[in-house]
Amino acid sequence: MVWPKRKLYIRTFGCQMNVADSELMAQILGEQYDLTARAEDADLFLINTCAIRRKSEEKVKSLLGSLKPLKRARPQLILGVGGCVAQQEGERLLAFAPHLNLVFGAKGIYRLPELVDRAARGERVVDVAMERDLPDLPHRTWSPGTFQTMVTIMRGCDNFCSFCVVPYVRGRETSREPGAIVDEVAAFAAAGGLEVTLLGQNVNSYGRGLPEPMTFPQLLRRLDALPGLRRLRFATSHPRDLSPELVNAFGELGSLCEHLHLPVQSGANRILQRMNRGYTREHYLEKVAALKGACPGIALSTDLIVGFPGETEADFLQTLDLMREAGFDQAFSFKYSPRPQTRAATFPDQVPEDVKAERLARLQALQDELTRKAHARLVGREQEVLVEGRSKRSPQEWCGRLRTNQVVNFIGPRELLGSLARVAITEAHPHSLKGRWVEGSSTCNRAAERPGTSPREVSCSER
Ligand code: 5AD
Ligand code: SF4
Repeated sequence: MVWPKRKLYIRTFGCQMNVADSELMAQILGEQYDLTARAEDADLFLINTCAIRRKSEEKVKSLLGSLKPLKRARPQLILGVGGCVAQQEGERLLAFAPHLNLVFGAKGIYRLPELVDRAARGERVVDVAMERDLPDLPHRTWSPGTFQTMVTIMRGCDNFCSFCVVPYVRGRETSREPGAIVDEVAAFAAAGGLEVTLLGQNVNSYGRGLPEPMTFPQLLRRLDALPGLRRLRFATSHPRDLSPELVNAFGELGSLCEHLHLPVQSGANRILQRMNRGYTREHYLEKVAALKGACPGIALSTDLIVGFPGETEADFLQTLDLMREAGFDQAFSFKYSPRPQTRAATFPDQVPEDVKAERLARLQALQDELTRKAHARLVGREQEVLVEGRSKRSPQEWCGRLRTNQVVNFIGPRELLGSLARVAITEAHPHSLKGRWVEGSSTCNRAAERPGTSPREVSCSER
């Protein structure tokens, strides 16, 4: 008799890397556990956490508190916390949450079956060891019928930006072997996959320390040559390490999408220096100009921090000025949040919360204006859209993305899911576009070739 597998529920906080890590956790536990979408059914409940800002950490702690009744109702439930907060807090999390069974850090993912086993036998387990060498597991995280996937190509970060907790919780930078990455993407493309997003804290420095060093653009070239792969994306990039070779790749590689996320953080040289970013606003703007020269029409997005210690009104105005000059299509903006172990948390000239909030509102108003203009420029144009799923807000519409990463909603036939369709852009909205399907235009419907692909209510993020 075959016993049914136990049920695993994973709640993920934070960035795309965490989403990919959660998929890896499910893969590693796949022999014992099947994923469920219903937390109430779980035998194992894992929370994959983010420590980048205090708010993300607080959300995790409040979720942990709210799980007490579930744990009381299902005493056999194994409750585990992984990821950056787990790495940072370790033992302290067990003291904070007496109903918690397991705490595992960045590298503990690879030991999950053994850790879960020990927790199931009643032990309260903590594994936050940070050793360097890890098995390069095949990250076969896509399921049949999937046309988009994320592939982690490197882990950790050596940059030590003075505000950032990542080097402390994710450890030193390590690149995966190029051969393993290429094999994985080739297998995905051969199975009908269309779009791959390569992930790492700073993919631009990919390849350092490998036995046979390889640059990131060289890796991109190898992937671009794979048959079937139509869209290649990556995140995230450090402006200092954006080489001329990578800039040129945008003009040369057919599958490389015309979008780059290039976090600038601040537009003031004084602040960039205190952040330990290793570039000036002039260097950044030169790189933006080079990108626009090599790839006209490239869309740029960025991350911005307001209220970094010592930031004056004049510094902040420099940030607004840089945003206008770079003409960002999209920006993710944050109030500075002091993080444990980081240098900036010890700086004496912290900016008051009300000043941070006021600057954030002004910055976001400017970005909304820039995004509106970028969207308006697309109206009247016909564009290629990868159809990702039903729109969350109006389920009769499809939702997809342009190569330049904007979200488009439009009405079209059922079989469009997972295809590259041509869509004429008809309306610009603050966070998305509306379009009209150009009939008979599905340029590549590899999803239709696969059995068992059916429309899903895909959460196509609208911001
Ligand atoms: N406070 C505010 N924002 C931060 N980020 C990283 N650390 C902090 C912090 N301490 C932002 C940066 C980074 C993004 C992922 O999160 O903008 O690029
Ligand atoms: Fe953090 Fe800087 Fe590394 Fe990005 S590059 S993860 S901001 S330390």
